[in-house]
Amino acid sequence: MGIGCAGRLLSFPGMTSVSAPGKIILFGEHAVVYGRPALAVPVTQVHADVEISDSSKDGIWIDAPDIHLHAELNSLPSDHPLAAVIHKFFAPLSSPHFLKEKMGGQRGVEIKITSTIPVASGLGSGAAVSVALICALSSHLSHPMTNEQVNALAYEIEKIHHGTPSGIDNTVITYAKPVYFVKGQPIEIFRVGKPFTVVIGDTGISAPTKEAVGDVCVLWEADKARWEKVFDKIGEIAKKAKEKIENGESEELGELMNQNHALLQEMTVSSQELDQFVEAARKAGAWGAKLSGGGRGGNMIALVKPEIAETVAGSLKEAGAKNTIITTINS
Ligand code: MEV
Repeated sequence: MGIGCAGRLLSFPGMTSVSAPGKIILFGEHAVVYGRPALAVPVTQVHADVEISDSSKDGIWIDAPDIHLHAELNSLPSDHPLAAVIHKFFAPLSSPHFLKEKMGGQRGVEIKITSTIPVASGLGSGAAVSVALICALSSHLSHPMTNEQVNALAYEIEKIHHGTPSGIDNTVITYAKPVYFVKGQPIEIFRVGKPFTVVIGDTGISAPTKEAVGDVCVLWEADKARWEKVFDKIGEIAKKAKEKIENGESEELGELMNQNHALLQEMTVSSQELDQFVEAARKAGAWGAKLSGGGRGGNMIALVKPEIAETVAGSLKEAGAKNTIITTINS
């Protein structure tokens, strides 16, 4: 248990600032929606940032320049994902009285939301904004929350974004640790026996997770026996990968990534660009590569020897990557 959000917030009288990381799924996306295990890790090179300041202006003002939004909370539809986070945060606290009590002489708050995580790209942008916003409200209004509470609330918002999310994105971002995730089961943080290097390549194509998840569901409805077998294979890959990561045998993850990518292709969630990037990374010497997240666009990942990370990133850029990130996975 313990108090959540610690370690990523800065708080001064009248001002709170919180940052939440992005994430990548190493193994098991899509199959995780059907109860199979998946592995995800935080990526701190990209993040969502929320700053709350006391204001002499009445009300709760949201300023999200990335999406050209500047509005008072009550002027937004209640199912707007940002408004929904705030409404759900206040729901158990009988909002107006709670806010007045906590605000002392101040009349309202200004909430500034920015993010370096590309939207609909498989890096968890929606979940990161939700987690940062919940943690910022919790700290600014001196209403401590546990990680479990933050995670549960962020999951409610994921349902608005994605329809039927497994909960892996909000979980890895809330705990900001590597997670072995099985839907509906207690959270398991896994140990990284030996750090390893991953290059992330962004196609720059935004692809809503909801659509890819919906399309996989249509395939599954039409032939459950076939797709359950595919999900089983992916689940087995994720289990093996966890063992290898814990034992520090990360070089061997490359082949598992390749196998996982082939199964995602079969599931129709890859794309020409993702396949080209995966191929380019392998040709440049990566041990293995796969798409990461919902697919159809967004990002892919390649497992590399640290010495060739820059070369692989260069090859991805030549193949058309809009951005690349080199990240070290550790505990
Ligand atoms: C999205 O990051 C991962 C998916 O498996 C969807 C989910 O788990 O909710 C595609």
